[in-house]
Amino acid sequence: MSTEKHIYQPNPKFAKDAAINSMDAYWKLQNKAIEDYEGFWKGFADEKIDWLSAYNKVLDESNAPFYKWFTEGRLNVSNQCIDRHLADKAHKTAILFEGDRGEVEEITYAQLALHVNRMANLLRHEFNVQKGDRVVLYMPMIPEAAYAMLACTRIGAVHSIVFGGFSSEALKDRIEDAEAKVVITADGAYRKGKPYMLKQVVDAALEQGGESIEAVIVVKRNNEPIEWVEGRDHNYNALIESQHSECPFELMDSEDPLFLLYTSGSTGKPKGVQHSTAGYILWAQMTMEWVFDIKDDDVFWCTADIGWITGHTYIIYGPLAAGTTTVMFEGVPTYPDAGRAWKMVQDHKITQFYTAPTAIRVLHKMGEDEPKKYDLSSLKILGTVGEPIDPPAWKWYYETVGNSNCAIVDTWWQTETGGHIISPLPGATPIKPGCATFPLPGIMTEILSYDGVVKKASEPGLLCITKPWPSMIRNIWGDPERYVKAYFSDVEKDGKAVYFSGDGAVQDEDGYITIVGRVDDVINVSGHRMGTAEIEAAVKKDDHVAEVAVVSRPHELKGESIFIYIVLKEGHINKNIKEHINEVLCSEIGNIAKADHIIEVPGLPKTRSGKIMRRILRSIAKDEEITQDISTLEDPSIVEEIIKKAREA
Ligand code: WTA
Repeated sequence: MSTEKHIYQPNPKFAKDAAINSMDAYWKLQNKAIEDYEGFWKGFADEKIDWLSAYNKVLDESNAPFYKWFTEGRLNVSNQCIDRHLADKAHKTAILFEGDRGEVEEITYAQLALHVNRMANLLRHEFNVQKGDRVVLYMPMIPEAAYAMLACTRIGAVHSIVFGGFSSEALKDRIEDAEAKVVITADGAYRKGKPYMLKQVVDAALEQGGESIEAVIVVKRNNEPIEWVEGRDHNYNALIESQHSECPFELMDSEDPLFLLYTSGSTGKPKGVQHSTAGYILWAQMTMEWVFDIKDDDVFWCTADIGWITGHTYIIYGPLAAGTTTVMFEGVPTYPDAGRAWKMVQDHKITQFYTAPTAIRVLHKMGEDEPKKYDLSSLKILGTVGEPIDPPAWKWYYETVGNSNCAIVDTWWQTETGGHIISPLPGATPIKPGCATFPLPGIMTEILSYDGVVKKASEPGLLCITKPWPSMIRNIWGDPERYVKAYFSDVEKDGKAVYFSGDGAVQDEDGYITIVGRVDDVINVSGHRMGTAEIEAAVKKDDHVAEVAVVSRPHELKGESIFIYIVLKEGHINKNIKEHINEVLCSEIGNIAKADHIIEVPGLPKTRSGKIMRRILRSIAKDEEITQDISTLEDPSIVEEIIKKAREA
């Protein structure tokens, strides 16, 4: 039987104690949500959240799509993640940190409380960071990044983490958009045994702009030499010891913004996705319990970077809210060799391992039998996220890493959804490889056409979420119109705008959902989202470029890669165009935006009205046959020339 057709039943030994242990149990929950949506969520909100003051309404839809959850409730996320665990988990490891070079640090919940309180005091008292102020984090994967996030939530500041792979220009844009007051960074950290630097990127960003920044707090990690701007830069390590070990937390409203996280869309500049306090933390915790089936003595490892939503929800907030031991890893899973991740699973007796298909493909390719060298018997659940997982990668993950004992939870979700949306439940869902399966209890997904008609089985359509859910995006920072336009303007059902994810999906006869991929102009490279418009805007900044079009090409390891067509200005001699444009992309966006293919073409295929025919360019990049009629193009002969160039690339 081929992997695609085979159905993998949950391991009965595991299912026995699972939080949701059968499809009956799943449907019982889901039907309750269908019958009494607010009652469903009320039950969990009352059970899971340490409310400091009661909410008065579960869901306020009066100003849709600006939904409000648990209105007027008061809570604090750092209390939910730390303080409330201190009675019975003070000496349990909260964060298990492993450095790139192999050193291990175990931080208990009591120690975490101390670090977070001190950092909160530092921000509040030394730098006057107040409730509602924005703090940008440009941090490596070290415990101080977690302290900084939680310290912000403690005092009600809104953090905006910028992934360390972004350039100074991208960092500056994000600082300016959020009008941040403080940047927290580190001199750098270690990767593959060598120090790398971050602080200089912050320096460059603040040379270019970022006027709102009053202070830069620098954690010393690798102690490499750095520039120091007197009056602006402050040494965390020197200041932190003298901070008071207790810091009363702010009472936050359910709907106060918890954090911003910038992500790419199909148009314009990156969007500051704004998440709320109560709804976000509730779902982060619930999905830890349902999808990862967290138990008291589990050790949970999500390999993401905290610069992405997966790191926010499943390294920090979800695991800590659930009182788990969460692993934080500074390095890369391929250093010193392809066994690093498996050695870590063995050494720390990791029970849930959560990573991206790209990483699985790379580890598979580098070491087919590598997992067999280690004792991986502690593993119970394997997870994947960020892009569709292909059958060979799935099979290897299941058989060789999981020893055919562990459920694979293929979790579909987005920066905007805050937490998992569609995923198998490890003790309940019979799994079809490559299928995200069913929406989680409480989540109402539908596959629709643009006019809101439900697609029949095996007909691909638009993946929509038709009811608001607690951890949904609340706004795009400073741009409510764009929020409505980006998510609630493409698809209407029964006269009401519904959330459209930008992904296409298809349901089979049994109701299983498979994600087809983005239907908008967003490329997914190694699980990183990038808007083609954003890449095009960056390339256009170069003086040599007359026209540019960015599309994606399938890539064996990365899933997709960036493919760029460039028309140069007349008279310009083309020399090493690829290197040049990639330099531009690195400086405008960052390393992650580097293109695999950059080809110079004499022109782009356009309609007579001047519109670029992207579908043709997409087909050419994929080396597919062109099915559209090209005779109506302004210059049909150009297509042949582009095809020739693309084949050479
Ligand atoms: C894609 C990451 C297939 C999808 C959490 C989505 C997936 C985008 C899956 C969000 C999956 C995420 N199967 N595709 N299991 N999970 N995606 O915002 O296209 O970085 O819209 O959030 O990744 O990427 P983001």
